[in-house]
Amino acid sequence: MRRVFSGIQPSGEMHLGNYLGAVRRWVADQERYDAIYCVVDLHAMTVPYDVAELAGRTRELAMLLMAAGLDPQRCVLFVQSHVPAHTELTWILNCVATVGELRRMTQFKEKSHGQESVSAGLFDYPVLMAADILLYDTNEVPVGEDQRQHVELARDVAIRFNHRYGETLVVPEATFPPVAARVKDLQDPRAKMSKSSESPHGTLNVLDPPEVLTKKIRSAVTDSGTEVRHDPEEKPGISNLLDLYAAATGTGIEKAEAELAGSGYGDFKRRVADALVEFLRPLRERYAELAGDPSEVSRQLELGAVKAETIATAVLDRVRRVTGLLPRHPA
Ligand code: AMP
Ligand code: TRP
Repeated sequence: MRRVFSGIQPSGEMHLGNYLGAVRRWVADQERYDAIYCVVDLHAMTVPYDVAELAGRTRELAMLLMAAGLDPQRCVLFVQSHVPAHTELTWILNCVATVGELRRMTQFKEKSHGQESVSAGLFDYPVLMAADILLYDTNEVPVGEDQRQHVELARDVAIRFNHRYGETLVVPEATFPPVAARVKDLQDPRAKMSKSSESPHGTLNVLDPPEVLTKKIRSAVTDSGTEVRHDPEEKPGISNLLDLYAAATGTGIEKAEAELAGSGYGDFKRRVADALVEFLRPLRERYAELAGDPSEVSRQLELGAVKAETIATAVLDRVRRVTGLLPRHPA
């Protein structure tokens, strides 16, 4: 079976865009692939962060992923810093990656732009990401478009490594979710929904209580006119709400449009809100169960770390051997 690996940072809450665009696909992929998913807490340290919150956020994100349907029996779900092989391989790959190629990373340019002080970790972020991927003999890496360049770098590093030391690492490939799945900001429907949105009302978080979801939908920006019609150019606000309704009810856009066409904006929004509340209810309920059973969550994450470590250690052994490091226990 082909192996997929992906990572997600424990920063901020999970919004509906993350869920529909990325996490739902991970859940589906665990049936078809040998799937490994990682909460990348070490990546979250590359920019200033709140020390008191990191561990909690890491756990919460792991619980959210389980609540969304990642099943530790069907995939490997673990926390990056629990498997030290990630940092060890990062060092070795640091000696293969070049300063020139890291300087070209647009995410580094964006995140470091205008900052007084930039950590070496932020510069090295893509090498840690390459280590995440290459440690598991990964075939496919499902990511958003913004991570394309980083996966490309992981490929380049793997190819260079193999060239220098002999065939050792599997060269991975990035895969991208269909672009049609972009969820827009409710207050600014021409921009995508994101954590860094200007208005907190523009972003739907998957754990928002029903009354908050309903309120955010009710205050969503609509368009002039009164017609409920899917037309992203002329009616971006209404179209976004129709997309959300279709996603929440599992119907196609045309069917959603037909179902809602006769309603006024007020009624339309109420139906979209109701559909979303129902759609997210099971996730909220599972999350509450997990939150009530912290030792079970720890047990699942430990199981994930052990499974991940078994795979990672074998790959790292291979790497140590071919790179000429002295074995601690010579055969
Ligand atoms: P981020 O945490 O913003 O980097 O997003 C993580 C992943 O979630 C992205 O790589 C996308 O696959 C997905 N995602 C984020 N925002 C949206 C959105 N508005 N619509 C659809 N997918 C999204
Ligand atoms: N950098 C990715 C992001 O911000 C997260 C990530 C870390 C990742 N390691 C990874 C994604 C390995 C895929 C594979 O979205």
